[in-house]
Amino acid sequence: MIILGINAYHANASAAIVVDGRLVAAVEEERLNRVKYAAGLPARAIRYCLDCTGTKLSQVDHIAIPRDPRARLWAKLRYAVRMPRFALERARAMKRFLGIREELAAAFDMPPEDIRARFHTIEHHTAHLASTFFVSPFERAAVLSADGLGDFASAMWALGEGAQMRVLGQVTFPHSLGMYYTALTQYLGFWKFGDEYKVMGLAAYGEPEFLGEFRRIVRAYGPISFRLGLEYFIHHTHGPEMSWREADSTPVLGRLFSSHLEKRLGPARKAEEPLGQRHRNIAASMQAALEEVLIANWNGLARITGEKALCLAGGVAFNCVANGKIFGHTPFERVFVHPAAGDAGLSVGAAFQVNHAILGRQREFVMDHAGWGPEFSNADIRRAVDSAHATGDFEIEELREDVLVQTAARHLADGKVLGWFQGRVEWGPRALGNRSILADPRRAEMKEILNRRIKHREVFRPFAPSILEEDAGEYFERMNPSPFMTFAYPVRASKRSAIPAPTHVDGTARLQTVSRTNNPLYWKLLRAFGDLTGVPAVVNTSFNDNEPIVCRPEEALDCFRRTQMDVLVIGRFVLEKSKKEAETKENDAENVARPAD
Ligand SMILES: [Fe+2]
Repeated sequence: MIILGINAYHANASAAIVVDGRLVAAVEEERLNRVKYAAGLPARAIRYCLDCTGTKLSQVDHIAIPRDPRARLWAKLRYAVRMPRFALERARAMKRFLGIREELAAAFDMPPEDIRARFHTIEHHTAHLASTFFVSPFERAAVLSADGLGDFASAMWALGEGAQMRVLGQVTFPHSLGMYYTALTQYLGFWKFGDEYKVMGLAAYGEPEFLGEFRRIVRAYGPISFRLGLEYFIHHTHGPEMSWREADSTPVLGRLFSSHLEKRLGPARKAEEPLGQRHRNIAASMQAALEEVLIANWNGLARITGEKALCLAGGVAFNCVANGKIFGHTPFERVFVHPAAGDAGLSVGAAFQVNHAILGRQREFVMDHAGWGPEFSNADIRRAVDSAHATGDFEIEELREDVLVQTAARHLADGKVLGWFQGRVEWGPRALGNRSILADPRRAEMKEILNRRIKHREVFRPFAPSILEEDAGEYFERMNPSPFMTFAYPVRASKRSAIPAPTHVDGTARLQTVSRTNNPLYWKLLRAFGDLTGVPAVVNTSFNDNEPIVCRPEEALDCFRRTQMDVLVIGRFVLEKSKKEAETKENDAENVARPAD
């Protein structure tokens, strides 16, 4: 039984394939076509999923699409009258969905009638809920999805039991926690798609001075729900407009906040304006208000379901600062967050919804790691390394695994910035030890070094640590696993000086716990670094420089050459820049101003 999940025609397009109830492959289109947040039909991702399973498109039994044009039809029609432009945009998207069979056939150069799969349209939030509960380790759980907007809803919650989910409630447009966060992110002068992370990082530098006002902007409502103060927003009168920037095809969301917000909080920050304490306090207030609503919603869900396990998905589930507070503020004892909690994860969710809710199959799969994307053989890597060597000035060694791990650990302990390229591409936006740039967490200056040499990010954004799962409790005030870097926990006061580089200004860190069974090679590297230094953790940031995370060896080598990474460990090869090359790069970087990522 082969089920192909396809998230198409909006940002974070992706594909996933489930064979006999088990996920075999999943990848975002952006990793393959190298366009950040790529939309459209994810033809490359689909092709990869099919190749991975040795199947042809004509052999697929079911195709699951995470969008249901019939969902909330009356509400959509009501708004269509008020916002004709928004309605037109939606109608265009719907037309493309209806023609997906033909577009697929054209992309795979086959007649449409050769696609014999049954097509299923799965409502957006149902797919989010399925993406987390059906792949979680829990037999029963409360399940919550919250995002900006999908199929005219922004949140949905359910009780998951075995291979079934019972939807208990929802929040429909225009009330939306995702829109709230994006609107205030825009107000603070961050307009790029995905900039919400920046504001979450900034919040730690402020005090929630404006929380009183923010409680009017967003508030918990009823046992689980929430409401926006609509006078602060314009998406319900103008429609949330999405366009595509021509230069790099990345999505741009139109303005969401109203002039009333500016009247109450002062003028919006212009993108080039310096950040002041007022901006930091606004960021802190918006984060605090979101957390109040989420904590009330989680507690409501715990009361209604009586469950001790919680599954989360939807873009709001990426708020790792809020997620870190679940354990101290609710009765939930175990939490699973899908690694691709945003819309990329919908392809996995839609496929599993078909597998369980439509085909009635039992559950037999747990997502215990995130390595579902492409991998490359040592021969592929050797070829890429050989051709890079012809044009680059670096030393190359091919090493046995145990020597390779020791060598990499020693470089890290010596303060080198190290590219780490191993195994399959991670599913979701986080590098989790397969396509990562690593550094020594004991050196406070590493944050500045990583920024100056490679990442070019705003100084207020923290870097994250990976730590051995068995040692996490020694360093953090919580023991709950965080395999996909979706929780921020307080670093124990006694350990903050041991790992200053990834510890944020508020004393927390967005950690990844690394288990021996789920990522054995990365675990060995952390163990080796721990044996050398006494600290079983590294700074882990994504392997990229103002681009989607690298996928192929050629992209890793190109990023290694372009930036001031010292060492690249790729498969069994260790590449080290010669001193001369490293110095030239250092001078170049000091002389050339780079745009922020
Ligand atoms: Fe969504």
